Amino acid sequence: MKLIAANWKMNMTPSQTREYVEKFLPLVEMVQDREVLLCPPFTSLCVAQELLRGSSVKLGAQNCYHEPKGAFTGEVSIDMLKELGVSYVIVGHSERRWLFGESDELINKKLTACLKAGMRPILCVGERLEEREAGLTLKVVETQIRLALSCLEEYTDSLDIAYEPVWAIGSGNPATPEDVQLVHAYIKDLLRDINAKHRGESRVLYGGSVNPTNAGDFLHMENVEGLLVGGASLNPETFSQIVKSY
Ligand code: 13P
Repeated sequence: MKLIAANWKMNMTPSQTREYVEKFLPLVEMVQDREVLLCPPFTSLCVAQELLRGSSVKLGAQNCYHEPKGAFTGEVSIDMLKELGVSYVIVGHSERRWLFGESDELINKKLTACLKAGMRPILCVGERLEEREAGLTLKVVETQIRLALSCLEEYTDSLDIAYEPVWAIGSGNPATPEDVQLVHAYIKDLLRDINAKHRGESRVLYGGSVNPTNAGDFLHMENVEGLLVGGASLNPETFSQIVKSY
C-alpha cells in the first residue's frame, strides 16, 4: 500500500494540532488503499494520539535518539515514542543532517535502535544542488544508504526510504517524475545488492515540493510507493487532496 506521510517540521502547537486533526479525519475517512501518516512535533504527539485513536491514520515522529534513557538533555527515546502510539520515525532528514550536523554514523545508530526496537524508520536521503550538478546524485544516495544500513543489512525490508533531493525541499521546484523514477529504481536495486534476501517490502517515497497538482504524477510512476510532504501537509484540506490524488 502506498504511504502518504506528512512531515509538519517545527509547525503546529498542540491546540493547532487538535484543530487540524478534527478537520482532517473526516476528509480521509473513506481512503482505504493508502496508508496515511502524520508526523507532528514531539509536543503534539499526545493530543494527536488521542484524536487518531480508532482511525486508520498513523502517527510518526520526526526524530529520535538512539540511547534508551539517561543523561541526554533534550532528546527523546524510542520507548517514549512507542508509549505515545508512534509507529514510524523519520531518520536522517536533510534538515537534521545539514542544520543540526547529523552524521551518517549517528543516523546509523538511530536506525539500529529503531530496527532493534521494532519501530519502522523512514530513512531520508538525497543530494544537494552542487552534487546534482556534478552528476553525483546516485553516488550520494548510494553512500547515504550504505552507511545508514551498515551492519543492518538483514533489515532492508523493515524500513521505508524517502528520496528527498535537498534542492527540491521547500523550493517549489520538485524533481521531475522521470528523475524520481530513475533514482527510485536505483535504490530498489541497491537494497537487493545490500541484502540478497531482500523481499521488496520497503517502500521508496518521494519528497520535495509535493503539492496537490503534482502528487498524482509522482504516484503514477512505477517505483514511487509514497510521498513525504512538508509545506503542503500543513493545511488539512490540501493534504487530504494529496492523500486522495491518483
Ligand atoms: P516540502 O514538501 O515543503 O518541500 O518538504 C519536503 C520535506 O522535507 C518532507 O520531509
